[in-house]
Amino acid sequence: MSPVSKPFLETLRGQARAVPPIWIMRQAGRYLPEYRALRLKARNFIDFCLTPELAIEATLQPIRRYGFDAAILFADILLIPHALGQSVAFLEGEGPKLEPIRDAAGLARLSDARAAEILSPVMESVRGIRASLPSETALIGFAGAPWTVATYMVEGAGGSDHTIIRRMAWQEPVLFDALIDRLVEATSAYLMAQVEAGAEALQIFDTWAGSVPAGLFERAVTGPTARIVAAVKAKHPDVPIIGFPRGAGGHLGPYARATGVDGIGVDHMCDIAFAATVVPPNVALQGNLDPVLVLDGGPVMEDEARRIVTAMKGRPFIFNLGHGVTPPTPPENVARLVAVVRGAN
Ligand code: CP3
Repeated sequence: MSPVSKPFLETLRGQARAVPPIWIMRQAGRYLPEYRALRLKARNFIDFCLTPELAIEATLQPIRRYGFDAAILFADILLIPHALGQSVAFLEGEGPKLEPIRDAAGLARLSDARAAEILSPVMESVRGIRASLPSETALIGFAGAPWTVATYMVEGAGGSDHTIIRRMAWQEPVLFDALIDRLVEATSAYLMAQVEAGAEALQIFDTWAGSVPAGLFERAVTGPTARIVAAVKAKHPDVPIIGFPRGAGGHLGPYARATGVDGIGVDHMCDIAFAATVVPPNVALQGNLDPVLVLDGGPVMEDEARRIVTAMKGRPFIFNLGHGVTPPTPPENVARLVAVVRGAN
């Protein structure tokens, strides 16, 4: 155990603090001029993520600027399909493009034989970040949840209705479940390796949980996430895990109970006071300021941030946005947000 108390970790262990810890999703990235300059040093985004020197620096940039309570490893959820041998490209201005997997033959081409080796630079980054962080700052490791990663693997791109994978899940359950099983296995191993390298908490991003029909929610979201949490905790019982089932407000209670996560990321579509009524009181809540408020800053952002902090008084709570900070956000608005949440009127 570290002798220095880290507010972010104390909160995930169930402590309600007078001043909530704060970090923000996508805190490292394109809204920071120093990130845009660093990004030019790699040919493509995957290379950037797999170059420890660059990933370490990108992780530390927002910590230096804002003194967030937690740093999040700089990497991407699509490193898992890349490591399993699927072709993944990030095209400028278009988002990710993958060679889609639509049948058993496509699934059979995935291989985890080299996954640990391909992902080993990420573990080097984790070790480097841990060695450079201030003693009060926690390091979050992360991965995408199986459903969200599978949407990219099957659809071949981003998008939001996910018709192809939903049809696969209903009509070809054996194929769908086999893909999810592969991801549960690969993701559990990847997260355990991050903990062994020095990650002190984990977040499982289920960005597209909101596109799962209710009748598939247990098979696509809750069940696979519960299996990852159980696998990680069997080996590392003390590592806190945050689940972020974005867009799945109506399922938050069952999700929290069935997965055994220590914290729940709440998006800005869900009323965080409602979340507090359905999620067990020892499970920390994290969220949920609308990221568009940080674009404009000013009194609307400040009042809404204060309202959220007030609503969460007495509850283990981590301040965050409801989703990632967007690239056009002025960095000074983020500085102001941090000051407001920490109580500097
Ligand atoms: O501070 C951080 O959060 C940095 C680490 C991080 C990135 N992606 C860096 C990134 C994390 C935690 C992620 C998670 C991630 N990646 C998610 C889940 C979180 C969420 O926002 O919903 C998802 C769905 C992805 C997949 C992904 N990666 C997409 C759809 C894109 C393209 C769209 C976009 O925002 O550009 C990416 C690329 C990406 N991942 C960038 C960064 C900084 C931008 C690429 C670049 O800088 O060239």
